Amino acid sequence: MDKITLIQPDDWHLHLRDEQALKTTVPAAARGFGRGIVMPNLTPPVTNVNRARDYRERILAQRPGGSDWQPLMVLYLTDNTTPDDIIAAANSGFIYGCKYYPAGATTNSDSGVTNLNNMDAVFETMQEVGMVLQMHGEVTTSDIDIFDREAVFIERHLRSLVAKFPRLKMVMEHITTEQGADFVMSTGDNVAASITPQHLLHNRNDMLVGGIRPHLFCLPILKRDIHQQALISIATSGSHKVFLGTDSAPHAQGDKESACGCAGCFSHHAAIELYAEVFERAGSLDKLEAFASTNGPDFYGLPHNPVTIELKKQAWRLPDSIPFEDTQVIPLGAGTTLNWKLVE
Ligand code: DOR
Ligand code: ZN
Repeated sequence: MDKITLIQPDDWHLHLRDEQALKTTVPAAARGFGRGIVMPNLTPPVTNVNRARDYRERILAQRPGGSDWQPLMVLYLTDNTTPDDIIAAANSGFIYGCKYYPAGATTNSDSGVTNLNNMDAVFETMQEVGMVLQMHGEVTTSDIDIFDREAVFIERHLRSLVAKFPRLKMVMEHITTEQGADFVMSTGDNVAASITPQHLLHNRNDMLVGGIRPHLFCLPILKRDIHQQALISIATSGSHKVFLGTDSAPHAQGDKESACGCAGCFSHHAAIELYAEVFERAGSLDKLEAFASTNGPDFYGLPHNPVTIELKKQAWRLPDSIPFEDTQVIPLGAGTTLNWKLVE
């Protein structure tokens, strides 16, 4: 097989940043994709409909000519979010989810929720109006080892949350563990998960053996091999419960190659091809379309994209760096060779 045709995929989790960064991130996100769920962790965060509307306009202003790519906006939940904010978001026509960040979990999450138990009225409203909860599922207390944050979150919070709100649509964003994979596969159809290319392609050895690779540092952090294998297994299984979410999150090279480096991998330079690599290695290229193009819209209750894309079998070398703001970003897989290429 030297060609694959797919219903145009969507990215159910990405970071575009703002201002000058949009010149790089928006065209990259639109490359081969129909829609993208735009994470709201700006400074200040996108906490209400007006901020989401303005941000959406700034994004659309950078969309390449002729592109129909659509940014799907997200509200950032804080301790001060009210049920009325949720109703306003649901009525906006351009907000497709609300993101839960535990305070302090990752980049620009300081305004995140400090106590999940205070969110009942908000979650109740989300459940009623059918708004998707996008969950960054990690505990952030200092007593918990960073590699255990996701597994502890599931036991400490997720099981009871899913029991309490049995109709709440929830995406476990960027799952990274066997426990996350088991949980999503064993719960009802109101719970799904997204998976990044870095968590399918890498484990923590790739980040730490033989020297620290700061460009593989992301949150949730890469885990050990058994977790990577569990993620590959559910992603390539054809299950409708998992879908593509790159978590593409650019940081300038200097901010990552630092004594206290930022978390995030930029992957939109080759997003669909990076996933194709995983599916080919697993012998499951026939399952790529479900993961990339149909499971996500089915979960969000949106139509499939009306066009197709083509990947052809062709070895190509990923760039060592990509211009970003006044400097550059080192993309995921920089300098390596991939076997599939989007026909542009
Ligand atoms: O690695 C990450 N980077 N994980 C996140 O959750 C946020 C993201 C970012 O915004 O840089
Ligand atoms: Zn993210």
